Amino acid sequence: MIGSYPLATEKEANDALEAALSAFDHGRGQWPSMYMQERVDCLEDFLVKMKAKREEVVRLLVWEIGKTVPDAEKEFDRTVEYIYETVKAASRLRNKNSAIICANDFIGHSTKVPFGVVLCMGPFNYPLNETFTTLIPALIMGNTILFKPPKHGTLLFAPLLDAFAESFPAGVVNTVYGRGRDIVPTLMESGKVDVLALIGSSKVADSLKKMHPKSNRLKAILGLDAKNAAIILADADLDNAVRESVAGALSFNGQRCTALKILFVHRDIVEEFNQRLIYAVNQLKVGMPWTKGVNITPLAEPAKPAYLKDVIGDALSHGAQVINRTDDEEDSFESIVKPAIVYPVNKNMRLYHEEQFGPVIPVVPFEDLDMPVSFISNSPYGQQVSIFSGDTKKIAYLIDTLNGEVGRININVQCQRGPDSFAFNGRKDSAAGTLSIDEALLAFSTDSVIATKQSDANSKIFETILAENQSKRLNSQSTVCPF
Ligand code: G3H
Repeated sequence: MIGSYPLATEKEANDALEAALSAFDHGRGQWPSMYMQERVDCLEDFLVKMKAKREEVVRLLVWEIGKTVPDAEKEFDRTVEYIYETVKAASRLRNKNSAIICANDFIGHSTKVPFGVVLCMGPFNYPLNETFTTLIPALIMGNTILFKPPKHGTLLFAPLLDAFAESFPAGVVNTVYGRGRDIVPTLMESGKVDVLALIGSSKVADSLKKMHPKSNRLKAILGLDAKNAAIILADADLDNAVRESVAGALSFNGQRCTALKILFVHRDIVEEFNQRLIYAVNQLKVGMPWTKGVNITPLAEPAKPAYLKDVIGDALSHGAQVINRTDDEEDSFESIVKPAIVYPVNKNMRLYHEEQFGPVIPVVPFEDLDMPVSFISNSPYGQQVSIFSGDTKKIAYLIDTLNGEVGRININVQCQRGPDSFAFNGRKDSAAGTLSIDEALLAFSTDSVIATKQSDANSKIFETILAENQSKRLNSQSTVCPF
């Protein structure tokens, strides 16, 4: 027993929504009306309190979702860093956007303002980081927040709740507990959620968006399914390709949206590649997440081991083998599933198409580059791809061929989200909107323009409002003023 949390009902969810709406108050609430610097001050206060809870949060991450201690520490530290960088990006945005401009006989002032209420839902594999990479930018831009922790990965937020309550005005950050299917529909059906920020499955995103009665009002920032491929060409540096493939496919048991979920390996090198892959995978240590040096840990989703058994069984029935273990070896115990390298995989198998999100590596031999290219073109997903080769002509061909299909092309390195200053997005069903430190601020804000025709009288109005500090919005604290 590591803890408990309330299974709230529609009533508590609606109370939270009302609190968020009232704190926003049509953009007139205390939080959205603050100057950016005042909001930054609140966030910095939160950060100090958050950092003091590192040990507790890390421990709960380890216990609740089975993340190894170093990976849980990395998730926490990376999130703290993300907040620091977001604060810097907010100042850059303010400096860039807050000047009065004169054009075509008009005087105008445009700035970024919040949308309203943002519903943030992160995934179980990065419950802290991927909730905060939407929550924090949404918050700093002046939105009010409803955040629903994932089903697995809920307890780790408890140590941070006091910090939220103490650092931000009432109603600005609201936690919504409970089963998603019981409490989220009522929020979406209310039509009062302005932005849905969801990192999860495209099926859930699709159904939530359809529940909202005002499709034009709802903005959606989504990070969804992916089936990222590695294409390993005949001339690839095999040491590097194997190292990156293992990290790419099996870090946190393959439970990363960016994980390499299928490897296309040129037939000329596939035997050698497989031998090295088997060796590397069989070195991985399987055990509990708090054990030093462990790599493969229990899976948090109760139904996952049975699902993985099914997709491996399907591949075996179509002629593949699990090449890194003997037939009589135990492949799983309770929630621990040992990594399986499945070879040769082809398009008749579920593993060729489905996002396994677990410790299974499908390897597909190929001769012609058309094969992996056509896999990516026909896939409903388009997050990233990794290319392993030193042949610049072939790499250039693949870059030009695939850049309309995926959000990021990685050369001789696994797929990944970071660094957080890089755009993180996806094509097709893999994402909506772009998240990076700078872009996220734009994703959670819109433009507000104050404009007038240039004349002495109108210029005087602008000047007087600014000089006498008459408006919060049109104010010299937030405006670079030419007068
Ligand atoms: O689950 C998806 C995460 O955004 C992956 O992030 O590539 O840095 O592990 P990562």
